[in-house]
Amino acid sequence: MPKALDPELKQSVAARIRYYNELGIYDFYRREAASSPAVQDLPESVIQPEQREEMSPRRMAAAARTTPDESVLEIISNKPEYGVNDPVKALKIIREDLGDCTRCVLHQQGRKQIVFGVGNPKADLMFIGEAPGADEDQQGEPFVGRAGQLLNNMIKAMGLEREQVYIANIIKCRPPNNRTPERDECETCSPFLMRQVATIKPKVIVALGAVAAKTLLAINDSMSNLRGRWYEFRPTGARSNDPNWTSAKLAVTYHPAFLLRDPRQKKEAWKDLQMVMKELELKAPAKAAQ
Ligand code: URA
Repeated sequence: MPKALDPELKQSVAARIRYYNELGIYDFYRREAASSPAVQDLPESVIQPEQREEMSPRRMAAAARTTPDESVLEIISNKPEYGVNDPVKALKIIREDLGDCTRCVLHQQGRKQIVFGVGNPKADLMFIGEAPGADEDQQGEPFVGRAGQLLNNMIKAMGLEREQVYIANIIKCRPPNNRTPERDECETCSPFLMRQVATIKPKVIVALGAVAAKTLLAINDSMSNLRGRWYEFRPTGARSNDPNWTSAKLAVTYHPAFLLRDPRQKKEAWKDLQMVMKELELKAPAKAAQ
C-alpha cells in the first residue's frame, strides 16, 4: 500500500501539473524504480524547483521516505476514457472508475449514494455546484431539492431545458449536516469532475457559489470579485480527445441555495446568466421571470 504523500508536497505537485496542463502539457513520465519509488525518483517536471531549494532537511528526509499516493499518480497518467469517442460510454467508464468510492472520509459519514452528475453528455453548458444535499443523496441526482427547483427555473429563464445542460458538483458525496466540503475532499473528488468536463467538452461552465468557483479557479477571492467576468478553464489533469477543445469559458454566479436565502441577489445572478446567454447566443423565452 503506498503511503499518503505529504499534503503540502501533494499540493505543490498538483499545482505544478496544473501549470503544465495550462501550457498544454499533459504527459508526464515517471522513472520506474525497482522497489517503491521515492520522491527523488519523480520526474523533474513534477517537482517544483523552488521546493527542492526551500525544503528543510527534515522535510526533505520525510519527503524522500514518502511514496507518491495513487491520487497524484492518477493525475499524471492517461485516463482510460481518453480513447473513447462516445461521451456516454466515456462517462460510464469514469463512473465505473469511481466505483463505490472510499477515497475520502465521506463514504463513512452517512452518504447514501454517490451523486455523479446528470444531463446531456454533449452539453454546451455545464453547471457545477458544491455538494449533494439530503434530497440529492436520496435520489442520486444533483440539484433535485429546493435549490434544484430554483436552478431549473434559472435554466428555463435562459431558454433551455434541464435535460439540455449537464449538472454536477465539486464533490459527489453528501457531507454530514451539509457542512462545507473540506479542501482534501474537494482535491480527492474533483479529478473525476475534471474528467467529466474533458469528456463533455462544454463551451461554458457556470460555477455555482464560492466553493465551486474557488475550487475550479484555484483562487481565493470574494464572490463579488469573482463574478462578472470570464475565465478560461482547462480541466486539471484531464484532456479531451478532441484537438479542437482545450478549454471552456467559465463564469461565476451565486449558488441557488444562497439566492433562496437572499432573493434580492437574484437580479445580480440574472446578470451573470445573461452574460452566459450572450456567449451561447441564447434567447430568453418571452415570459422569462428573473
Ligand atoms: N447544492 C449543491 O451544491 N449541489 C446539489 O446538488 C444540491 C444542492
